Amino acid sequence: MPNTFFITTPIYYVNDVPHIGHAYTSIACDFIARYKRMSGVETIFLTGTDEHGQKIQKAAEKNNISPLDLCNKNSKKFNDLTKILNLSNDDFIRTTEERHKVGAKTLWKKLLASGDVYLGNYEGWYSINDETFYNEKDLIKQSDSSFKTITGGPVEWIKEESYFFRLSKYADRLIEYYKNNPDFILPQSRKNEVISFVKGGLKDLSISRNTFDWGIQVPDDEKHVMYVWLDALSSYPNSLGYITDDKPELKKYWENATHIVGKDILRHHAVYWPAFLMSANLILPKRIFAHGWWTNEGNKISKSLGNVIDPVEIIKDYGLDQIRYFLLREITFGSDGDFSLTALKSRINADLSNDLGNLCQRSLTMISKHCDSIIPD
Ligand code: ME8
Ligand code: MG
Repeated sequence: MPNTFFITTPIYYVNDVPHIGHAYTSIACDFIARYKRMSGVETIFLTGTDEHGQKIQKAAEKNNISPLDLCNKNSKKFNDLTKILNLSNDDFIRTTEERHKVGAKTLWKKLLASGDVYLGNYEGWYSINDETFYNEKDLIKQSDSSFKTITGGPVEWIKEESYFFRLSKYADRLIEYYKNNPDFILPQSRKNEVISFVKGGLKDLSISRNTFDWGIQVPDDEKHVMYVWLDALSSYPNSLGYITDDKPELKKYWENATHIVGKDILRHHAVYWPAFLMSANLILPKRIFAHGWWTNEGNKISKSLGNVIDPVEIIKDYGLDQIRYFLLREITFGSDGDFSLTALKSRINADLSNDLGNLCQRSLTMISKHCDSIIPD
C-alpha cells in the first residue's frame, strides 16, 4: 500500500452558500482521510472554492456587488463550514489565489506546447448553471420546445471565438487507460457510462471565453479568459504546487490522488481532466469516485424548489455526530438517497440511542462491576 494519500472534495461554486450536498461530499472525504491517517498513511485532505466564470459574475451582478466581494463573502461560508463539520482538511484552496492562477496558466502553456490548443469558433448550447457545453442530443426537450440539462438548469445558444483543446485526439488513449486501470473510475456502473460517452465520440473542447472577463486570463491573449473547468480542475495539483514544480516531495502525494465528486461532475473529472493531464505530460490521479445525489423528501434539492437543507441549521437541531453518522450510514456510497427527517430521527433513535447506547451501557456496567472501572489491556 502506498504510504501517501491525497484526497479532494470538488471545489464548490461560490455563487451561493453551502447546502447539505456540499456537506455530504466533505464529510465523506473527511471520513476517508481520518481512516487513512489512522492506518499510518501520510494524508493530505484538500477542499476549497471555485470562484471564476460566468455563473459567479452573474450572481455578483444580481447581488450588486463585485465578483471578488461575492467570492470573499461566500468562500468564507464554505471555510466556516469546514469548522462546523469538524473536517480535518489540511488545506483550503481558492481559485482567486495567486498560487492557483500561476499553476492554471502553467497548465495552459503545457497544453499549448503539446500542440493541442488552437483558435476557432464555438457555436452551441451552454449551461451557465453547470458551466458546461452540451450536445443537443444530451439535453431534455421540454413541452415549450426549449431545452434543459440533466441537472435541471436552462441552456443558452452561444456563438463566439474560442480556443479549443484537441480532446478528440484522446478518445482512444482514454479508453485504453480505463481498461488498464479498472479502479480509475468507481463505482463500476458509473465507469460504464463514461466509457460509452467516450466511445460515442469526443469533440474538441472549447477552453476559453471572450464575452465576459471574470476568470484567469489566457496567457498571451488578454481578450480571453480560461474556461472555468480547466481553471478549476487544476486547483487540485496547484494546492500542492505540482504543476509548476515536479519535485518528488510533491509528486509523492499527487501520484496517489483520489477525487471524490458527485455524479453531476464525473465527465469533467473522468474525461476532460485525464485528457488535459495526458496532453501536459503530467501524472493522472489514481481514482475518481462519483457518489450519488441526495433528494429532500423525494424531491431534487434545488433553490427554485425552495427545499435546500442548510447544514448549519440541521446540525444545530440534531447534532454534528448524528448528522455525520446519518449521511454516511443511510445510503450506500455511490447510490442516491433521500434526506427525510423521519429517516434521520429513526437512525438516531434506533442505531445511536438504542443499539450504540445499549452497547455502551452494557460494556460500561461490566467494566465497572468486574474491572474496577478500568479498561483492561
Ligand atoms: O460542480 N447530493 O461545484 P458545486 C449530493 N465548482 N451531493 C451534492 C448535491 C446533492 N444534492 N449537491 C451538490 C461544482 N453536491 C464545481 C466543481 S471541481 C474541480 C469543480 C456536491 O458547488 C457533489 O459533490 O456545484 C457535487 O459534485 C458538488 O457538490 C457540486 O458542487
Ligand atoms: Mg452544481
